[in-house]
Amino acid sequence: MDLRTKFIGLNLNNPLIVSAGPLTGTGEGMVKAMEQGAGAVVTKTIVNEIRPNVKPRVMYKEKGLYNIELYSDYSLEKWEQEITYAKDRGAVVIGSILGHSASEITYIGKKVESYGVDAIEMSLFSPHGEGIDGIVDSPEGLYVFTKALTESVNIPVIVKLSANVLNIGKLAREAKRGGAAALSGIDTVRAIPGVDLYTRKALLPTYGGYSGEGIRPIAFAALASMVQATNLPVSGVGGVSKGEHVLEFSMLGAVTVQLCSSLMIHGYSHLKTILKELEDLMKNLNIESLDEVRGKALESLLSFEEIPKEPLVAFIKEKEDCNHCMGHCKSACLNRAIIHNDLSYTVNTEKCAGCGLCASVCPEHRISLNYG
Ligand SMILES: Cc1cc2nc3c(=O)[nH]c(=O)nc-3n(C[C@H](O)[C@H](O)[C@H](O)COP(=O)(O)O)c2cc1C
Ligand code: SF4
Ligand code: SF4
Repeated sequence: MDLRTKFIGLNLNNPLIVSAGPLTGTGEGMVKAMEQGAGAVVTKTIVNEIRPNVKPRVMYKEKGLYNIELYSDYSLEKWEQEITYAKDRGAVVIGSILGHSASEITYIGKKVESYGVDAIEMSLFSPHGEGIDGIVDSPEGLYVFTKALTESVNIPVIVKLSANVLNIGKLAREAKRGGAAALSGIDTVRAIPGVDLYTRKALLPTYGGYSGEGIRPIAFAALASMVQATNLPVSGVGGVSKGEHVLEFSMLGAVTVQLCSSLMIHGYSHLKTILKELEDLMKNLNIESLDEVRGKALESLLSFEEIPKEPLVAFIKEKEDCNHCMGHCKSACLNRAIIHNDLSYTVNTEKCAGCGLCASVCPEHRISLNYG
């Protein structure tokens, strides 16, 4: 089995990239990530004018992270040292940068290129501080930034996109038009983690960015849209915490995947766990290389109009009835097609509309949809 991955001309040992965030905020952190098996690292986002970060700024709730952390609070000069430290130790380093104008982004891009990064990731879409409203407020604006940057550096530029937008496909096309070598996404999702009922205050003092398990489906959709809109190589980001997630991202077209939250929760060494899970899974599924499966799931994504209208209804498998749980299927059926008598739950196929909900709530996977 071969996990080696070619991405925008870089030869990576595997497709796992530690995304921009606290784990890659120092040279030491980047080297640690590489030592634990990362194929590459993206630096914490580098800016020209730093602003101090607030405290506290990260919280864990219901399997997800919420953060109000801005970009790096290291100066450009300090980043020269950090990048040199990581490059001297063999790290593959992608420099994440943010600027407030096309000229500022090219200034930072040229600086970071001169520090020896292998590629640049332009990250303009943080949901707090300055997000899409503050920096780029239109697809045309993204084109202008991307074009200015790609024309001023000689290394590949990845444009990182966000799901906090109406039409990610449109942004993806503008990034491609501006010369992006690849796309990545998503950044965190704008969110409020909750309210303290006793103090009546929001749990964080400003809108935050949600990441981890809960955003994976949003990241899948964003990835598929980016690939379908541009055919550029895409680095899928959002909610990767297991080997199976890497395979899912690959099947939806990702060339590499990036991760942050699961490593913040479980530590850098979780990279090794994910890689082992990925290898075991590929062995079981007879997959030799991710190239074999890349984008395969996109073929099953139809437009709404293309979905065949099948006459499907629910059946309880094996036996014609079941009484193994408290009737989750019955509670979920709005059509009252699941009937409970003293002994069992059964389906009235005359009433069943074939919506499929009962099959997915059944804890024992006893319900399937078949032709009526
Ligand atoms: C605490 C924290 C800080 C982050 N800082 C940055 C950043 O500086 N630049 C950036 O592009 N993304 C940043 N991100 C977003 C991540 O790179 C990633 O896009 C997002 O968290 C989704 O991936 P995940 O679900 O694996 O965490 C940050 C995420 C977290 C949790
Ligand atoms: S498929 Fe939908 S309508 Fe049919 S029994 Fe299940 S929940 Fe009811
Ligand atoms: S939800 Fe599943 S296990 Fe529970 S009664 Fe219905 S078919 Fe049986």
